[in-house]
Amino acid sequence: MSSTSVSPQALALDGGAPVRATYLPYGRQSIAEADLQAVVEVLRSNWLTTGPKVDEFEEAFAARVGASHGVSFSSGTAALHAAAFAAGLKSGDEAITTPLTFAATANCVLYCGATPVFADVSADTINIDPEQIAAKITPRTRTILPVDYAGHPADLNAVVEIARKHGLVVIEDACHALGAECAGQRVGSIADLTVFSFHPVKHITTGEGGMVTTADRKLAETLRRFRNHGISTDARQRQAAGQWHYEMVLLGFNYRLPDIACALGIEQLKRLDVNLMRRRQIAARYTAAFGEMAAVVPPAARPDANPAWHLYPIRLKLEKLTADRAKIFRALRAENIGVNVHYIPVHLHRYYREQFGYKGGEFPVAEDAYERLISLPMFHAMSDQDGADVIAAVGKVLRHYAR
Ligand SMILES: Cc1ncc(COP(=O)(O)O)c(C=O)c1O
Repeated sequence: MSSTSVSPQALALDGGAPVRATYLPYGRQSIAEADLQAVVEVLRSNWLTTGPKVDEFEEAFAARVGASHGVSFSSGTAALHAAAFAAGLKSGDEAITTPLTFAATANCVLYCGATPVFADVSADTINIDPEQIAAKITPRTRTILPVDYAGHPADLNAVVEIARKHGLVVIEDACHALGAECAGQRVGSIADLTVFSFHPVKHITTGEGGMVTTADRKLAETLRRFRNHGISTDARQRQAAGQWHYEMVLLGFNYRLPDIACALGIEQLKRLDVNLMRRRQIAARYTAAFGEMAAVVPPAARPDANPAWHLYPIRLKLEKLTADRAKIFRALRAENIGVNVHYIPVHLHRYYREQFGYKGGEFPVAEDAYERLISLPMFHAMSDQDGADVIAAVGKVLRHYAR
């Protein structure tokens, strides 16, 4: 090797060759021919928005997750807002949730005029810690809002037990966890209200979209009204009944998921089990490889949980490295590995600092995790070679910065 050539082990960040020639995103959708056909069929039909595909998607989805009712929404965020409303959250109430989530989880509490109260996470799963929840309950608490971080179900049995003891409603943010199971029960059939998202990086997609599942017929009725301006019937029901009269009975929104999107959802749902199997295969391969790397803590999977692996977030043992997370993130991006960080703890966002006076340091377990987290590519359409590239790139970068 001449003195001017770059070693094959040189990081792409330092001018070396990247592990991959093309960029691998951290997540992306897969669209099949059947999806395209189903969408085109709706475009040629009479109903583009609330028509027969909505009912068909909701029924198939509810059956898949073991729920009596499924109510679709225009996004997971809209679904969270509706669930918070249906749970009765209002000004003066408190909802206990995790800081280690996407802002939408806590924002839905604010939309209802209530206050999100954060409880720190458990060190292994980095899901909300039931003991911390119990310590945060006050006479104003109305709701507990656990999140199934990365697709690993929260400690739902413990959460439900606390809720029953105190008469609280459980809204589970399962936007990461379609297809997950907790102690043999399907996510979607455990909490009072369970919320899903169909954003393109999720297990199935409708472009944008969301769903709330529940066993309670009255809650389902409130959810349906809330997504349609608070009106008691929809246009198709009125047409079928030959009526023009309608009544607005509560203050709702237009949060409807169109038939076009539901047709896509119906087809995507048929492939959910295949998608889940692929994600579980990738996770098993990652965990075998990263378990051998001294500077990596792979994501935990508790024995009673069957995670859905929306994300694969590793934690770095920074004590064993000469670089911080930001540098390792940049080095992996330079290797063409589309890493990401989930999440900046919600209380550290400027809005929450200004509204609630958070300064950092309030939730040490979540904040420590945040400093170390890097989400690696995880999606069902990834090839074996993609997975091998991720493992090679993480190994290369961490060897370079090993202490
Ligand atoms: C945990 C969590 N909750 C809620 C949402 C909001 O879902 P959507 O993007 O469908 O509005 C997301 C989005 O990715 C999420 O990750």
